[in-house]
Amino acid sequence: MVPPTVSTILSSIAARRTIYNLKPVLPTGINLKDVQKIIQAIIKDTPTAFNSQPNRALILTGEAHRKIWEQVTDSIEAESGKKRPASVKNEAFGSVIFLTDDQTTENLQAKFPAWAAFFPTFASHASGAAQISSWTTLEAAGLGCHLQHYNGYIKAALGSKIPSNWTVQAQLIFGVPKEQPGEKTYIENEVKVISVL
Ligand SMILES: Cc1cc2nc3c(=O)[nH]c(=O)nc-3n(C[C@H](O)[C@H](O)[C@H](O)COP(=O)(O)O)c2cc1C
Repeated sequence: MVPPTVSTILSSIAARRTIYNLKPVLPTGINLKDVQKIIQAIIKDTPTAFNSQPNRALILTGEAHRKIWEQVTDSIEAESGKKRPASVKNEAFGSVIFLTDDQTTENLQAKFPAWAAFFPTFASHASGAAQISSWTTLEAAGLGCHLQHYNGYIKAALGSKIPSNWTVQAQLIFGVPKEQPGEKTYIENEVKVISVL
């Protein structure tokens, strides 16, 4: 029998969905410090290649969130491309910016030259792991989230607010959900067990 904690974890994984339609507030009983603590714990406990810990994160909210996303919106030429960042600016409470420290990756490459080509990929895997855990946990806390990749625009908008050798990996946008997630379809995708060849 699977212990109840496992069912809880699996339910949280299934409940993590993309929700674009957000209100720029936090759920009752959750404050920004709680969000910061959640992201901090996830950045700390997410495994990384050789325990190198390249993950970095920052949380934008209030005027900073609006300013950065306005800059992203203004940097995009096509009118159709402005829609998403403009909605992030106006409808979300904040955004978690996931980054990786390139210096950490370069140090690993120098230390383990035979693996050098893998380390940038491993750094983005570690960032991805932190992104999905953060998304799952924030939704378990009653927030609504969606994941975006305006990486170059965010890097340019943040300018000297982050070290120049940090790579922007993704943005997790959060607020209070105004809608239920849309219907999702699944492919047939059985996990086979092979015990004898
Ligand atoms: C690695 C990754 C990259 C994604 N990039 C984007 C993105 O740039 N913009 C976006 O709107 N959604 C993005 N998504 C969200 C996916 O489109 C979404 O997770 C998928 O359609 C499944 O829907 P669900 O999140 O409701 O389960 C991304 C998701 C993942 C895992």
